[in-house]
Amino acid sequence: MSSKAFVAGAAAKTLTIGILGLGYVGLPLAEALISTGFGVVGLDLNQRKVEALSRGRSYIRHIGDARVQAMNDTGRFLVTSDIGQLGEADAFLICVPTPINAHREPDLSHVIKTSELIARVLRPGQLVVLESTTYPGTTEEIIKPILENTTGLRAGADFALAYSPEREDPGNLDYSTETIPKVVGADTAVERNMALALYGAFTRTVAVSDLRTAEAVKLMENIFRLINIGLVNELKTVFGGMDIDIWEVIDAARTKPFGFMAFYPGPGIGGHCIPIDPFYLTWKARAYGLSTRMIDLAGDISAALPRSVVEATAEAMDNLSHRPLSKSKVLIVGIAYKRNIDDLRESPALPIMQILRRRGAQVSYHDPHVPSTERAHAEGIGTMFSIPWTREALAGFDCAIIVTDHHGVDYELMLDTIPVVVDTRNATAKLADRYGHKIVKA
Ligand SMILES: NC(=O)c1ccc[n+]([C@@H]2O[C@H](COP(=O)([O-])OP(=O)(O)OC[C@H]3O[C@@H](n4cnc5c(N)ncnc54)[C@H](O)[C@@H]3O)[C@@H](O)[C@H]2O)c1
Repeated sequence: MSSKAFVAGAAAKTLTIGILGLGYVGLPLAEALISTGFGVVGLDLNQRKVEALSRGRSYIRHIGDARVQAMNDTGRFLVTSDIGQLGEADAFLICVPTPINAHREPDLSHVIKTSELIARVLRPGQLVVLESTTYPGTTEEIIKPILENTTGLRAGADFALAYSPEREDPGNLDYSTETIPKVVGADTAVERNMALALYGAFTRTVAVSDLRTAEAVKLMENIFRLINIGLVNELKTVFGGMDIDIWEVIDAARTKPFGFMAFYPGPGIGGHCIPIDPFYLTWKARAYGLSTRMIDLAGDISAALPRSVVEATAEAMDNLSHRPLSKSKVLIVGIAYKRNIDDLRESPALPIMQILRRRGAQVSYHDPHVPSTERAHAEGIGTMFSIPWTREALAGFDCAIIVTDHHGVDYELMLDTIPVVVDTRNATAKLADRYGHKIVKA
């Protein structure tokens, strides 16, 4: 297919799009493309996910079975773990994980493996786009040589290569894949125009001049969050020492209509993005002899937060119940890394639970979105089950720590039943008049 035919196919919605990696990013992207009218062939190497989707079942709670079933009902959604089935696709969108290893170095093994799979079926005229978050240079230095060396085809001449960072915000009901603008970068105008035509069919696009700029955009967005989260947590400690409530400060500061954006303190950072992506840049900067001191500092501040939550809990137990933490039954309320989702990756609840256990506490949890930690990314805590939210079940605990403030949790029931509540999210603010004597903000 020529680039002109590709652009025309994008406008007419007649293209078939291959999506590699059907997780928190790939699945909603598939849904957006299908509702626009495209055909989608999704590939995932996890057989359990392929089977679930084929049967109309979702493994992502906030997406739900009905939406997957609706995708299947169009007859334009095929799910497979066989790359051979993607041979007829007009474009390949790569949405695989980009984690870091124990030394905070990029782990591009999934990106490399996916590129090798695509190289097996790549034909002239196809478009390949990396959506995974990564350091500037990845598409050009890692993906391009794999595709070119395996196939003998040339990027920019025979096939098109682009980078378009995913900006998915799972659980955010205000924005969807169709309403979040898509940044698109490629090294030639022809390649960029093909990618712009595809994404422009379902959302607003923002073109940047090359691959590396587009890769840098995504890192900047996430580094901005890491730094501001580090800052607000530092201010929480400083203002707390002065007996000033950071939450009240933020609420007032955010009334300024310009030049201020509210960030909130919490028990630590979580998810597949903020704790990881900034360190992709740190690693790459080293190759240029450059350092990223603010990123490192913000990372250190955030990494220390779970331990401070446990310290605050031990102090609260000493002061309010005279029962040592080591002899206490502690309930963690909300273990997903953020509100209203089921994702446990890098959740601060995990180190908090581990530290509590090491200190001798008996730990349980309640999370309406995470019925069990089985099959979840719950490193270090093993298989646990969410306790029911009933007066009887809550009655046996000495202390509760609100780690994630999901909507719909009846905090009054907990405050009525449990003698000490450590609140890292200001979730109990409205109940402070009645229960302030047992609430500790941490
Ligand atoms: N989760 C988010 O909110 C979010 C937001 C923006 C960007 N991102 C970025 O998007 C990328 C994907 O993140 P995610 O949250 O969707 O991850 P995920 O783990 O939810 O999904 C990735 C999927 O890729 C599959 N996979 C792994 N290797 C594969 C391969 N070689 N071929 C095909 N499938 C393979 C996995 O089985 C999994 O289903 C990451 O780079 C992440 O940083 C994530």
